Amino acid sequence: MRTTVVCATLILMALGCNRSSSGSGASGGGAAEAQQIFTSRCATCHGQEGTGDGPAGAALTPRPRNFHDGAWQASVTDDQIDRVIREGGAAIGKSPLMPPNPDLASRPEVVVALRQRVRAYR
Ligand code: HEC
Repeated sequence: MRTTVVCATLILMALGCNRSSSGSGASGGGAAEAQQIFTSRCATCHGQEGTGDGPAGAALTPRPRNFHDGAWQASVTDDQIDRVIREGGAAIGKSPLMPPNPDLASRPEVVVALRQRVRAYR
């Protein structure tokens, strides 16, 4: 009986995961996780408010990007932001101090939500 309940729970969880990863990715599945990832990974360098002054970013050269910089926002495409999040700065000729997030390569909805978070500072 107990095993049946555990199995049913696992199947439901698997179905739930499938649904979110095959969704449109715009504002759905990835948003909550992106929020959590931004706070735990990105804000250490880019700052909780995206101003590029997180504690781990202060000593870096170049400094982490200030997402409020309108000229920078206008100069980058959505694809470039998605790629730098997945593959890191070195992949697009920027600083290797901007780290890659290989675990997000299979989570496009989270990458899109992170990019929307970055764009929201515009
Ligand atoms: C270890 C510090 C560090 C962490 C952690 C970090 N970044 Fe960065 N990031 C940088 C630095 C430094 C740059 C500036 C690279 C340059 O201008 O050459 C940068 C640049 C960027 C850019 C601009 C790229 C461009 O085309 O100009 C984006 C977008 C970005 N980071 C997003 C993120 C996101 C989203 C996260 C969390 C998943 C993150 N970063 C985590 C250090 C960091």
